[in-house]
Amino acid sequence: MDGLAVVECERCPELCESRSRIVNGTGPDDADLLFVGEAPGEHEDDGGEPFVGRSGTVLDDALREHALEREAVRITNCVRCRPPENRDPHKGELANCRGYLEREISRVNPELVVTLGKVPTEHLLERDAAVTKEAGTIEDARLDGTPHRVLICVHPAATLYDASQQETFESTIATAAEIAGVTENDGSGQSRLDGF
Ligand code: URA
Repeated sequence: MDGLAVVECERCPELCESRSRIVNGTGPDDADLLFVGEAPGEHEDDGGEPFVGRSGTVLDDALREHALEREAVRITNCVRCRPPENRDPHKGELANCRGYLEREISRVNPELVVTLGKVPTEHLLERDAAVTKEAGTIEDARLDGTPHRVLICVHPAATLYDASQQETFESTIATAAEIAGVTENDGSGQSRLDGF
């Protein structure tokens, strides 16, 4: 690991085969909000950046709605290499990548970690989660030896196939923005990034 970026890793033989590159987190290394997704997909593997496909557009739109730009937040994944056929990461792969994620969270030390979907929620909280039901709730998790506040959120992709998840997603992002001290978009098109 070089700073917050993993430069070289060969821990997961299958992922080494399926990836084009390691996709590290993006955004400030002192961000107040740190979003954690599952794993890079095809677009992320191509572009080398988390959440740049359709899910990324949903996330960007929701952030903007609450006066947050992508550049003001940190965005990362549980696993940094694209799984074959975009399958869920296996337990062993999550475990192999966990140290990188915990180190990233502890170095950024955000006000709030936001888990996007079931995989990151269960991975960081180390328990089963009913994400749709629990979305918007905050729980403490000890990561890299330090307690962090974790806000549970549905995955942005869920809003693409289930419209009822849209409201849950947006209200959770609103909670995140509020906690980070960002005020609502006033319609002027200006992002006001108090505290960033
Ligand atoms: N893109 C990512 O980077 N992570 C996800 O979980 C989904 C899409």
